[in-house]
Amino acid sequence: MNRRDFLTRTSTVALAASLAPALSQLSAATAISAPTAGHTYPFAVTPLPYDYAALEPHIDAATMKLHHDKHHAAYVTNLNAALKDHPTLHGLTIEQLLRQFDSVPAAIQPAVRNHGGGHINHEFFWQIMRPVGTEGSGGKPGEKLAAAIIADFGSLEKLQTEFNAASLKVFGSGWAFLVRDAATGKLKITTKPNQDSDLFQTNQTCLLACDVWEHAYYLNYQNRRADYLKAWWNVVAWDIASRRFVA
Ligand SMILES: [Fe+2]
Repeated sequence: MNRRDFLTRTSTVALAASLAPALSQLSAATAISAPTAGHTYPFAVTPLPYDYAALEPHIDAATMKLHHDKHHAAYVTNLNAALKDHPTLHGLTIEQLLRQFDSVPAAIQPAVRNHGGGHINHEFFWQIMRPVGTEGSGGKPGEKLAAAIIADFGSLEKLQTEFNAASLKVFGSGWAFLVRDAATGKLKITTKPNQDSDLFQTNQTCLLACDVWEHAYYLNYQNRRADYLKAWWNVVAWDIASRRFVA
């Protein structure tokens, strides 16, 4: 599937509408393509929507290439292998598979949880980052999201401090998320171990996701997760998070 086919295919997924304004304002080289969240078996890794080196100096090219082309790809390969002999599941999106996890055959539940979670987490992770210097990257949240952050955390700086502290407490490998609770409208920071995800639940909207597995930062930052987290905020695509907040 070439890039044109990919963009056409992904134009119908649920998040595309919220990303469209950003797409129209970016050059082809840095266009943020829509996530593949609506895809079904066989799942595929979305091409990285920017160059491997585009997030430097904050995230280095070698890490991005290994992370996207090897780690993420392995989750998808293993997810597809687990689903291969279960055709009744082939019409389900990754969100549906994870939401209906109890109906997934027990024999493949660990694979769906780990590799399916790895797939959905990484698909969002690539999208919620943006090359420095392009619209949204390293900037500030939109007006409504900024007001919510002040209301719920006190300031953007306090949110970042709390988010980084939560991320540092993740033992071993996992993820940190900023989500908006659908019932209360409140923002909250969550963490999940391994490849568990906060991206598929219907009672909340995920605004940010940060990969705190060592494979996300070890080549450049070695064991210094705190330095990686501090740098990561420079490439957060705030415009996408802000659009998801008001969607
Ligand atoms: Fe990762």
